[in-house]
Amino acid sequence: MQNKAWENEEFSGFNDLDSFDALDITEEETETVNEPTPTQTKEHHANKTQTQDVNVEQGANPNKHTHANKHASASQTPQDLTLSKDMLGKRVMGYIDNEKQAEAVLKKLEKYASEQFVPILRTGTARLLKQMVRKVQPASALEIGTAIGYSGTIILSNSPSCELVTIELDPGAVKMASKAFAKARVDERVTILEEDCMVAVPELEKAGMGFDFIFLDGPKGQYIRLLPHLVALLNKGGILFADNVLFRGYVTGKEPTPKRFKTIVKRMQEFLAKAKQHPQLINVEIMEIEDGVLLANKV
Ligand SMILES: C[S@@+](CC[C@H](N)C(=O)[O-])C[C@H]1O[C@@H](n2cnc3c(N)ncnc32)[C@H](O)[C@@H]1O
Repeated sequence: MQNKAWENEEFSGFNDLDSFDALDITEEETETVNEPTPTQTKEHHANKTQTQDVNVEQGANPNKHTHANKHASASQTPQDLTLSKDMLGKRVMGYIDNEKQAEAVLKKLEKYASEQFVPILRTGTARLLKQMVRKVQPASALEIGTAIGYSGTIILSNSPSCELVTIELDPGAVKMASKAFAKARVDERVTILEEDCMVAVPELEKAGMGFDFIFLDGPKGQYIRLLPHLVALLNKGGILFADNVLFRGYVTGKEPTPKRFKTIVKRMQEFLAKAKQHPQLINVEIMEIEDGVLLANKV
């Protein structure tokens, strides 16, 4: 249970999770998560417009034909947009169903984390992770700091072909995460290593593993020591996404650092400086979103 206090003093650990049943999901709950949010409504509108244009391409309205052509991008030929039986078939419906289930699990985990003071990704950072993974569609990902499986579920449910290796020291958390992954129907694509990341990460490197995406959310005071291993583990062009790099505003000096966090803050400052000047990292961005996110590409 070491390394917990840095994140949330109120968090008392994962010990009482043996009889954990907070992940039981009713059908009604999977329906509720599917109600469109404002963004979803926008997407829905965009899709609707696209479908209308497809119909136009198929000859329903010759006047709109030019309009549809104007908006088709080079890679989106009218054929690409044709609604096929396969698109509407069981495979897609199954995918939508799984997505609904994962959304319901995420909602449950959010509720549980907030009630039990479990440190998981904050809302904006979770959204950023989701968008990145959706766009990049990594084939492989490594996560340091599984906790209850919240961020892992985001990664896996938004990249349906991705295989995730996730590392977590705490047995109670591992138990909970396993259950969450199973409920979210992503468990076949995840390997949980119940180990200290300071041991597991160098071992993965020695084993010659490579990942398209690395999400670093483990012990904050160890980011600096993990950095060379993580760079080695990233595939060429791969992405490093590190959370909490501004650590409550202490790292930039926005907030005065309490004595007990001085070492973590100093090490995080070193981590940021090293990452910025690392010869194998490019596009290094430090985003002032919530607790701070570092993004970088490996050359
Ligand atoms: C901020 S939480 C991770 C939250 C999770 N990524 C999410 O958003 O759902 C950090 C996790 O790292 C784990 N951890 C801390 N030190 C570790 C270590 N040395 N090795 C492996 N896991 C560690 C903690 O037990 C905790 O569950």
